[in-house]
Amino acid sequence: MLGSWILVAFCVCLFFLFIRIRRPKNFPPGPRPVPIFGNLFHINIKNPLKDFEKLAEQYGNIYSLYIGTKPVVVLNGLKAIREALVTKSADFSGRPHGMVKDVTEGKGVITADYGLQWKEHRRFALMTLRNFGLGKQSMENRILGEIEHLIAKLEKNAGSSMYPQTLFHDAASNIIYLVLFGTRFDYGDETLKIYIRLFTENLKLANGPWAMIYDALPVVRSLPLPFKKAFDNYNTVKVMTANMIKKHKTTRVPGKPRDFVDCYLDELDKRDNESTFSEDQLVAYIMNLHVAGTDTTSNTLLTAILYLMAHPDIQKRCQQEIDEVMESKSQISFEDRHNMPYTQAMIHECQRIANTVPLSVFHCTTRDTELMNYTIPKGTMIIPNLSSVLSEEGQWKFPHDFNPSNFLNDQGQFEKPDAFMPFSSGPRICLGEGLARMELFLFLVTLLHRFQFIWPEDAGQPDFSPVFGITLTPKPYRMLVRQRQPAREM
Ligand code: HEM
Repeated sequence: MLGSWILVAFCVCLFFLFIRIRRPKNFPPGPRPVPIFGNLFHINIKNPLKDFEKLAEQYGNIYSLYIGTKPVVVLNGLKAIREALVTKSADFSGRPHGMVKDVTEGKGVITADYGLQWKEHRRFALMTLRNFGLGKQSMENRILGEIEHLIAKLEKNAGSSMYPQTLFHDAASNIIYLVLFGTRFDYGDETLKIYIRLFTENLKLANGPWAMIYDALPVVRSLPLPFKKAFDNYNTVKVMTANMIKKHKTTRVPGKPRDFVDCYLDELDKRDNESTFSEDQLVAYIMNLHVAGTDTTSNTLLTAILYLMAHPDIQKRCQQEIDEVMESKSQISFEDRHNMPYTQAMIHECQRIANTVPLSVFHCTTRDTELMNYTIPKGTMIIPNLSSVLSEEGQWKFPHDFNPSNFLNDQGQFEKPDAFMPFSSGPRICLGEGLARMELFLFLVTLLHRFQFIWPEDAGQPDFSPVFGITLTPKPYRMLVRQRQPAREM
């Protein structure tokens, strides 16, 4: 008898849960959610990209899913994403609540709500990066200086094969570190290793299966499950960063900023207690910029070298173009991109195929709104599927192949289609776009000028399927490095 009552009570609970996760009126369509878990069984939570593609074929470019009981709207294709992030930007520029926001406490800029703290910090970073020479000689010199360290390392390995993963991460991390603290680490430095290991681990955890479970089932949040690692990693880096800032302050002269940290501290001195600026925010901000500026650039470079080895004809054509421009110069400059249409096209094609941040950083609606005739309530998580735009049929000449012609017009001039959106779009567009573009150009041109990259004969077939996370990472590979140009003064 008691057993039957328990069964009835269980069925009633299920029934109510079912009602609770019924879609709101006029909400975008999607697969039917099950109680408690929502649509977690409809997608491969380790890598949902293929399932997202199939769902778009079934439900159209805007559809919804439930992560547990939480509704999520997935946007696919240029039209839907542009309408949300650009045309209706004020409605779609929030950041959702969930594991990533809990880990970072919404501080800094990446996970900050669409409000004053975000606005002031974003404006400050853009201005400071500009004042520190973005687009000017000084930033180029910093990047070229770091490239010299990379070249020295590659020269040591010339003639043999090596794994480039750590090296490219170290180099990208150093560039952002030079901007933030004015210093760099030696390659292989223990502190640098810890930073990069913890950052990259968190970028995989942040939209991996455990983050989805954390977001879907609030009851499990206090249990000692693997998502706890994301909190531990973040706290370790937080302490390291706070210590770096403390040390940096000992040599600081107020009003004479040497780098980003000094500029922030000068700004802090000018503001009162009501301000959104604080030392806590600075720590989070430094971590934001460091993580956002390292794994992205490095994984794009890794993808570029992988594809250039698999397409030696494209590599050779770039080298011919680079050699011609460099013939009359002792040092490459970002300005030279205008004389290198094919190389520019190759670099953009590498970014398109790398699809480095495939689902952008998740957004959320800041108020009840409408999109393409659907109604979306305030606080709904929005996933801009940038991946879907970067290979959208109709937007590209060769959407599924690696082919620099995607960025060349009939006259062979460089042309960027609207669907080139690896940095996202709208007010939340990547804050480091300018820096990243400069880095990618200077790195790839210098490396291709100096070296030939060859897929080692004993390495089997290249594996182009990347590892999923907030960033897509090529599987570890080896590259054979052959010197083309003797080292010379840069
Ligand atoms: C190839 C390199 C890079 C790619 C593909 C990339 C891509 C992205 C994407 C897709 C977003 C999310 C935008 C959105 O929410 O709609 C983003 C945000 C961001 N990126 Fe990048 N990024 C790159 C390099 C960098 C660098 C070098 C920095 C450091 C200066 C940086 C700093 C940031 C920051 C701070 C945000 C958050 C912006 C905000 O919330 O307002 N990124 N990036």
